[in-house]
Parts: sequence; structure tokens; C-alpha cells
Amino acid sequence: MLKREVVEDIVVLLRGFFATPIISSLGRLGALEIMRNAKNFTADDLSLIPNKKLLQDTLRYFARLGLIEDVDGQGRLYRASELGVEVFRRANSFYVPHSYYEYMARYHELIQDASSRINCRVERLENVVGSGITHLRYFPPAVSFLKRKAVFDTLVDVGCGDGQFLLTFLKEVSGKKLVGVDLSELSTDTTYKNLRAQYPELEIATVCCDALDVKNWSGKVLRFANGGKVAISMWFLLHEISKNQPAVLKEFFRQIRTIFPAAPIVIGEVVRQSEDILISNNVRSLLPEYLFFHEMSGQGILSWQEYREVLNCIAYDLVVEKLFDEAPDKEGKKIPSTFVWCLTPK
Ligand SMILES: C[S@@+](CC[C@H](N)C(=O)[O-])C[C@H]1O[C@@H](n2cnc3c(N)ncnc32)[C@H](O)[C@@H]1O
Repeated sequence: MLKREVVEDIVVLLRGFFATPIISSLGRLGALEIMRNAKNFTADDLSLIPNKKLLQDTLRYFARLGLIEDVDGQGRLYRASELGVEVFRRANSFYVPHSYYEYMARYHELIQDASSRINCRVERLENVVGSGITHLRYFPPAVSFLKRKAVFDTLVDVGCGDGQFLLTFLKEVSGKKLVGVDLSELSTDTTYKNLRAQYPELEIATVCCDALDVKNWSGKVLRFANGGKVAISMWFLLHEISKNQPAVLKEFFRQIRTIFPAAPIVIGEVVRQSEDILISNNVRSLLPEYLFFHEMSGQGILSWQEYREVLNCIAYDLVVEKLFDEAPDKEGKKIPSTFVWCLTPK
């Protein structure tokens, strides 16, 4: 007979396969918000879900998982359980992992494709919406730095996603021109629409361009800034462009420093923690999955030592540093899973 803990671990491994697409989908459709806030609800209250048969199947499944409770015992009237309220509130945490679903759905083909000919894509909208909301917790120290300690007229967000950082910035600071740069046109379009919807008068530009092509986006930024001072932000962009090599980032910052010699920079980034930290933390952290889907899709998350090496080689002073979710490595040194740096040129 298998030990109880082993059975539970196997169930956990399998459950995510079913529950993640459902939570991500119902979260994006706004159904979980209704289920979480209503005292009681029926399938008819979720009028935004057209497939009522699948919805009923899903409600019964959620009830069996303990996410909702069957109030009338007839499978008609439900309410979210305490666990459900907490899970539904965090539905956006499911978006980024789920946006890699094509890689997982085609895993069986990929693992047999020695020449790596199969191309899978990330679901970009789900990815940028999920990133934006998930990253909100990291923005405040950088917004505070930009508000209090930086002098500039134009803020350029490189790898702008859906514009969540620029929107957060605008809640605190007005009177600046904004630029969103991103490789994905869906991102630049979404950023533009999101900002315009809330700030019709704002001076905004977007540039659809590879961040590593600094010459290209900087030319457009300089024209838009029209002689004004520039500040630059880059949230969770570096791992997308590093190619796993600190040297790529050093060269990236060298070019930025040459073109924008006075620009302060704010950075948020995820860290590749050591294997022993990942193993000892694996029931509390999704970092093993985050590293897996980033590695699998060819992105290069660097170690803390490598990011520090980049910092030591570029002509910037570290003015603010915030470290998140630190865990001790083998030598007892605390290594963050995420960091925020605010830099000014030396
Ligand atoms: C992890 S998301 C972060 C989005 C946003 N900065 C945030 O924190 O919510 C990374 C963003 O970088 C963009 N990106 C990826 N590679 C890029 C590249 N080479 N140049 C510019 N943007 C890139 C992606 O399209 C995506 O919007």
C-alpha cells in the first residue's frame, strides 16, 4: 500500500493539469469574481458563460474539490468556500503558467523532436495580462524612487506588457510623457489602449521593437522626448533577452548608457535560485515550474551572482534595492527569488 503522503503528492501533481485551465479560463471570463463575491450563486448568475452544460460539470467538479459548496443539496445553488474565495482571488496567478499550455499540450511531440523543429507559442494576451497583475506587488518601490528621486520628463517602459507598470506609475505621478516598447504588437496595442482609456489627454507613444535593438527604439524615444530628460523601466524583460549570458546584458546597458547618459533605470527581475533552494522550497513555491517553462521556451533567467556581476560591470550606482522571497542557499547566504533595482548613472 502506498503511504498517504505519496498518494496526496500524486493527486497534487495530476490535479493542476485539470484545475489550471479551468481557473485561468473562468478567471479571465470574470466568472470567479462573481462566484467569490456573491453570497450564493446559480449557473444562471454566470450569464457570461454560454456553455451551461460544461459550466454545470465544472461547478460539480469545484464542489468536489472543496472550492465551492452545494447550498441546496440539489446542485443548483452554490457558494464559494473559504478556500475557494482565496483561490478565486488569486486566479491571475494561474494565467502566466497557463499561457505556456501549447508547450505542455505538445510535450509528447517536443520530447521526440531531436532537431527542435516544432515551434510552440505562448498565449501572449493571457501572458501579459497575467504578468501585469502578478507583478503589481513589485512596482511600489520603483514608483516611489521615480516620484521622489528621479528627474525626467519621459518614462520609457521597455517590455511594457499590457502597460500595468505605466498605469501604476500614473496613479502616483502626472505630467510625464510615456513610451511603451515591446517586441509584441499585441503588447504595444494593449498598452496604448489601456493608457488611452484612462488618460485621454496623455502624451503616449509605443514602439514595437526588439529591446536589444537599442538604436532603433532609442531613436524613436529621443524624437518623442524632444530634448527632455528620460527615465527607463524594464520589468521582467532581462530574462527574455539575456540569452543566458551576462555579457548580453552588459552590452545592452552599455548601449543605453551611451545613448541616454543621464537616464535613471528601474529594473524588476526573477532569479534562478540554486537547485538546493528550489528543492527545499518546492511545496511553497512555483519557481520550479517558472524556471522550467522559461528554460523550455528559450529564455535565460540568470542566477543572483550573474545579475550582481552585470551590476558590477555597468556604469550605474545602485540607489534602491528590494529583495523578495529570500531563501538560504547551502552556505546560508540568502538568495532572493525576485529583485527590484533603482539605478542612476555614475
Ligand atoms: C514577462 S513579460 C513582462 C511584462 C511587463 N513588463 C510586466 O512586468 O508585466 C515580458 C515582456 O517582454 C516582452 N519581450 C520579450 N522579448 C522581448 C524583446 N526581445 N524585446 C522587447 N520586448 C520583449 C514580452 O512581449 C512581454 O511583454
